[in-house]
Amino acid sequence: MANRVPLIAGNWKMNLDHQQAIALVQKLSWTLKDADHDYKTTEVVVFPPFTDIRSVQTLMDADKLELGLGAQDLSKFDSGAYTGEISGAFLSKLDVKYVLVGHSERRQYHSEGDDVIQAKTAAAFRHGLVPVICVGETLEELETEGQSAVPIRQTLAALAGHDNIGEFVIAYEPVWAIGTGKVATAEEAAAVCGKIREALAAELGEAVAQSTRILYGGSVKANNVAGFLRSTEVDGVLVGGASLDAEEFSGIARFLKHIAL
Ligand code: 13P
Repeated sequence: MANRVPLIAGNWKMNLDHQQAIALVQKLSWTLKDADHDYKTTEVVVFPPFTDIRSVQTLMDADKLELGLGAQDLSKFDSGAYTGEISGAFLSKLDVKYVLVGHSERRQYHSEGDDVIQAKTAAAFRHGLVPVICVGETLEELETEGQSAVPIRQTLAALAGHDNIGEFVIAYEPVWAIGTGKVATAEEAAAVCGKIREALAAELGEAVAQSTRILYGGSVKANNVAGFLRSTEVDGVLVGGASLDAEEFSGIARFLKHIAL
């Protein structure tokens, strides 16, 4: 994992109301505290639905939790007549640090293309948020284009044309591995993450490539996380289903214990 602090990110998707969110965050923080989790060694961030964020922020603030807070999406606009949209400005105000951009479910069900994702990435930078840019190929694209072509193309498209590039994270999530129980092998994940890093180096320079965290996502569980994170190319994981269970997610966050074994 080079010198990059591993990031364990839990994307709750459209699950848990604000009361359930509070219960899960409390349980998660207790479980990690019991296990003496060191957040400086491994960062842990949850990405609840928008309606939960204020409640989770209040809890994190009151109890001085070291868990980080992320959002699942943001508007490409800053303010105005855009019914239903959420500005990055509102998210920063709630101490949100990270925001998912271009998740495959938004590409698929909300027709978000590379232009929208680039604009949302720009909005994240404008509001001081760290975009977690999600990239990944479908099964069909895997068969026609191979494994790295689509993730690299999506990465470069999201990062093209910005005046000021701030910190960002890339999450490689093969679409065929999301919520399916089908997992990319640790070797496949490492190979694609390595190729994305090479593309970042060519486009933005070696310093950016070396400091950027590249995560793997897709059916990650406590019992398979160590395999991915053994590679120096994979700097963390983006977890869906398994992040809804405090025990399971804290098991993922404590992956270093499994690696040490
Ligand atoms: P699962 O972990 O449920 O496969 O979801 C992965 C994902 O989409 C995280 O963003």
